[in-house]
Amino acid sequence: MRNKLLAGVAAVFPLMLMATHSANAQSAAAIAGTVSSEKEGAMEGVVVTAQKTGSIVTVSVVSDDKGHYAFPKDRLEPGQYNVTIRAVGYDNSAATKADVTADGGATADIKLKPTRNLSAQLNNAEWLASFPGTEKQKDFLMDCTSCHTLERVAKSTHDVDEWMTTITRMKGYAPVSQTIKPQRMLDPARSGKPEDYREAAEYLATINLSNTDKWEYPLKTMPRPKGAETHVIVTEYKMPRPTIEPHDVILDKDGVVWYSNFGEMFIGKFDTKTLQHTEYPVKQYKPDAPVGILNIDFDKSGKLWFDTMYQGALGQLDTKTGDMTMYPVPAEFNDMRTQLNFVGLRHDVDGKIWTKDVGTNNVLRLDIASQKWEKFRPTDQLKGPAGIYQLISDSRNNAWLAEFSDGHLGKIDAKSGETKWFDTPEAHARARRMAIDENDNILLTLYRANAVTYFDTKNEKYTEYKLPTAFTAPYRAATDKNGDIWVSTMSTDRAVRLDAKTGKTREYLLPTETNMRSAFVDDRGDKPVFWVGSNHQAALVKVEPLD
Ligand code: HEC
Repeated sequence: MRNKLLAGVAAVFPLMLMATHSANAQSAAAIAGTVSSEKEGAMEGVVVTAQKTGSIVTVSVVSDDKGHYAFPKDRLEPGQYNVTIRAVGYDNSAATKADVTADGGATADIKLKPTRNLSAQLNNAEWLASFPGTEKQKDFLMDCTSCHTLERVAKSTHDVDEWMTTITRMKGYAPVSQTIKPQRMLDPARSGKPEDYREAAEYLATINLSNTDKWEYPLKTMPRPKGAETHVIVTEYKMPRPTIEPHDVILDKDGVVWYSNFGEMFIGKFDTKTLQHTEYPVKQYKPDAPVGILNIDFDKSGKLWFDTMYQGALGQLDTKTGDMTMYPVPAEFNDMRTQLNFVGLRHDVDGKIWTKDVGTNNVLRLDIASQKWEKFRPTDQLKGPAGIYQLISDSRNNAWLAEFSDGHLGKIDAKSGETKWFDTPEAHARARRMAIDENDNILLTLYRANAVTYFDTKNEKYTEYKLPTAFTAPYRAATDKNGDIWVSTMSTDRAVRLDAKTGKTREYLLPTETNMRSAFVDDRGDKPVFWVGSNHQAALVKVEPLD
């Protein structure tokens, strides 16, 4: 009887507590305050990040035009938080800590001071804007950002001769490399010879510290976010090892995150509710070849497919049972040059899977039932250097090819095997990733042309959108249900949202260096949620616009 009564009281009491608090909760934030500096007064567009001691999760918000920032109460559980900032040109003048309790928010005003080391804060686009040089010279540098930032290039002291051997060494690394885990390609021809790089070396020796102890050009910085660009919450989930490189990040129907590990032989799975991280090991076929997986995607039946790059096999994971089936490329098409990436997944049409090999420019097609492979040579039709970046299947399982070295989009007809090439809207555009919709419209990123474009495959027409920030280096794009285009970049640490009707963009600044390779929009809620992987910082990143 007594117990029962107590239980009754306990059940009512929390309800009352919550009621009084929810009245405040709308106004009270978990942590709120103002960001200011002597130079600017109240500062807009400063990214403020809160991390609970010991947590793998960081949450970031951005200060508004009055310098005010606020973390919504439901985003930070009680505990002690470290609060850090990102605003190029500034550092926090004192370490900021905040205690979030169950019944009250914390106030933390943040005072910024000019940084003493601006060069440590520049992103790749800011370095490229700062370096003197022609477009062609800088274009060479756009191939230097996939494994590390350009800070290393600017701070080096190599002269021309040293650069020639250094560049040759860089060109021999597989793109799956990081500075903490270099991986050399098996094929020695991939690195080229020092003499091939004389011109580039001569240029690089003029922008680094080989002849001077301080750069003779001013360091240019991008403006901070403004207005609607500050209406965003960014959540980062840190992975357990720094060698994890989340490349393609996608969500399944239940909102569980799946990613390809670009630097190790695992498919990763992450549950944002429980923070549980699961890894599915993938077979390594070639002990001496680089390891890592680039592309993952679901087929129409919900099975997850992936490439294995230098290991020369495709794989398929049943996400329900965890069973994995591997499809190694046969010896006749598989040697030390092999670098298999991307999977064309409309085998529901004809039972066949497309993929391609960077090392040989072969496009391959696997008949799943007979396990027979066929080879195609689409780039033999092109003059000059050619390399296929992505391959994707349309609704008839024709293969579409984004050509990266120059600027082409190609189609291999599934029935005749014939290839047709189209020029990209701009010369030397360097087509990178594609997305395809149910009407076979292709959304394509143009890495060097700093643009995204739709290609209407029925009428063979482009609609191009230029990106306003120089050297954005768009990697991949996706369309949300409202028709906005979301773009990931390898240069600016900003997620770009482009209104396809007006062409206007918003750039959401992320809290850390974020070399992005995926662009996935989760359209299940009323607002789009954008996901990317932080390829260099071992994190999964969720970008939630507030409007
Ligand atoms: C495929 C990955 C990759 C790419 C692309 C890459 N690097 Fe590197 N880079 C590395 C790795 C790994 C290291 C650390 C190991 C080493 O120095 O060999 C490194 C280190 C460096 C360093 C510091 C070490 C030194 O010798 O000074 C510089 C400078 C550098 N890279 C310049 C460049 C330039 C210039 C380019 C573009 C031509 C480039 N990197 C492209 C992987 C890469």
